[in-house]
Amino acid sequence: MSFSIERYKEESKKVDTTGVAWDEITSSRLSNGDLFCLHYMMDIENHVPLYLSHLLVTRACMDPILTAFLACWNYEELWHGENLGRFLNLYGIHFDAQERIANVRANLGFSNSASILATMTGSWMLKDFSAVYLSIGAINELTTLTGYGALIRKSGHPVLKDLLSRIVKDERRHFAFYFNSAREWLTDNRKAQRVDRWMLDRVWKPVGQGVKKQEEVDALALYLFDDAEGEADLASIDEKIGKLPGLAGIKLLSKSLQEARGRARQNPAWASRLIDNEEWAVKPPRKSPIGGMTTRRLSSDQVMGLAPDGDPARAR
Ligand SMILES: [Fe+2]
Ligand SMILES: [Fe+2]
Repeated sequence: MSFSIERYKEESKKVDTTGVAWDEITSSRLSNGDLFCLHYMMDIENHVPLYLSHLLVTRACMDPILTAFLACWNYEELWHGENLGRFLNLYGIHFDAQERIANVRANLGFSNSASILATMTGSWMLKDFSAVYLSIGAINELTTLTGYGALIRKSGHPVLKDLLSRIVKDERRHFAFYFNSAREWLTDNRKAQRVDRWMLDRVWKPVGQGVKKQEEVDALALYLFDDAEGEADLASIDEKIGKLPGLAGIKLLSKSLQEARGRARQNPAWASRLIDNEEWAVKPPRKSPIGGMTTRRLSSDQVMGLAPDGDPARAR
């Protein structure tokens, strides 16, 4: 698996959706589990700029190759979120994507700022911070593309399959960058390997945890991976990550599935109730209204200069 940053910079672009049969989305049905996963995935794709804000204050970003990658990566991830939102809207689920993103962010509250400070401090204290960050990047990208593959399989929705397969191609390139960069950092560096292993065993969390609650993370994991094929998918992630120097035998994803199953055994309604009750809407925060933090004091139609019925001539 090779990766050239020069080639990536030249070729990076928004995911090409030419020819996606958007008008056939409603011809096939999606289950509640599919819809739950799609909302989760869209929210996490849309969270990338805030994740980036954590990275840009770390020592890892002294590396111009990494910042060049992040500049392109952030743009590509933006279009993943945009297209998942478009898909859901066309399926018939009505929400204002920008309003939803603002609500997800506002609900993080002070914990987001505290987390930026902790990441920044940790990175400057830890010489091999980049090894940890790059390994986590590789795990996250590989988990994401594996999750999309599982959702394609579960849903059997032809248009979703087409869209997600295009997104997966981007995720593969992201994984290649992180994996190769982590391997470069870890090769012949015993100290970095020890730090990486120690940190992954203690601080790693599945993609989306923190933005999403534990029960939501479990609902996604159990819906997508709680069968033989899903288990094999997760074992294959562990196996690939275990090829990084110092990480042989690591079992993060398989362990995480076991823990989710354990919580569901203790409380049979755990996780599945979120899917059964269609709990994918995001409520605005009770304190600190969105308008206080963003320019979104007007409805999106007013911001765009449209009258409520969509007629620009009748705006204002
Ligand atoms: Fe993505
Ligand atoms: Fe990605």
